[in-house]
Amino acid sequence: MATHRIQTPASKATPRLTPARPVAVDPLTTKELLTLRPLQESDRDAFCEIVRASRDLLDRFSPLHRPGESDEELFDRYLQMAIDGDATGKACRRMGVLGDGTLVGAFNLNEITRGLTWEADANWWVDARLGGRGLATLGVRALLRHAFDDLPAGLGLQRVTCSIMPENAASRRVAEKAGFRLQEGVCTHLHLGQRWVRHEVFVAAPPAVQARSA
Ligand SMILES: CC(C)(COP(=O)(O)OP(=O)(O)OC[C@H]1O[C@@H](n2cnc3c(N)ncnc32)[C@H](O)[C@@H]1OP(=O)(O)O)[C@@H](O)C(=O)NCCC(=O)NCCS
Repeated sequence: MATHRIQTPASKATPRLTPARPVAVDPLTTKELLTLRPLQESDRDAFCEIVRASRDLLDRFSPLHRPGESDEELFDRYLQMAIDGDATGKACRRMGVLGDGTLVGAFNLNEITRGLTWEADANWWVDARLGGRGLATLGVRALLRHAFDDLPAGLGLQRVTCSIMPENAASRRVAEKAGFRLQEGVCTHLHLGQRWVRHEVFVAAPPAVQARSA
């Protein structure tokens, strides 16, 4: 099968908004230290295997594939989105990796805007075979910590939102454990898998902002 290699456009990099180092999070155990880092070409096989094994769950709650898109094509697009996000400062798309190198899933900040408010949209998914071990919660906590840490180590954001289908109880629980709060009465419709799907909206803010608004 043909593989597609994508080069990082180093000339377009914007170091000021780009994390200089991987994001490390509290270990479950030493072996399970979870690190968030960009997707890389060497992840191709593991990424495609996770997506294959998790396809039913992903299609139900967070479809990744475009119509007719193969796992390999999805990988190429995912890799390019990670590169573009860092190059433009408009996204921070990371993979969770255990201490032994096992790829866990994706933890993404998209639509980073730096107008009057500095904010982003988050989403995440985890290998269905690794579910129920607290890994999504660890990854989302790390993502938020990175989002709210001051520049240049973090992204200096003031608000992160995420949209979750009401019936996605596991993701809702992950969001709440990581510090998101449901926006009562607010919903949005996302175009997923060729249909519009109602989602509830959750918001997280840095601890200092949360304390001021309490
Ligand atoms: C949602 C998802 C990320 C959870 O990953 P995970 O690693 O299993 O999550 P965690 O183990 O950190 O936490 C799951 C929590 O949900 C709970 N949970 C799982 N299934 C549940 C259910 N059907 N009803 C209620 N709670 C449920 C678990 O008990 C756990 O909570 P606890 O620690 O209080 O016991 C994963 O299932 C996934 O990738 N799903 C498909 C993609 C998706 O939905 N992404 C989110 C879109 S925003």
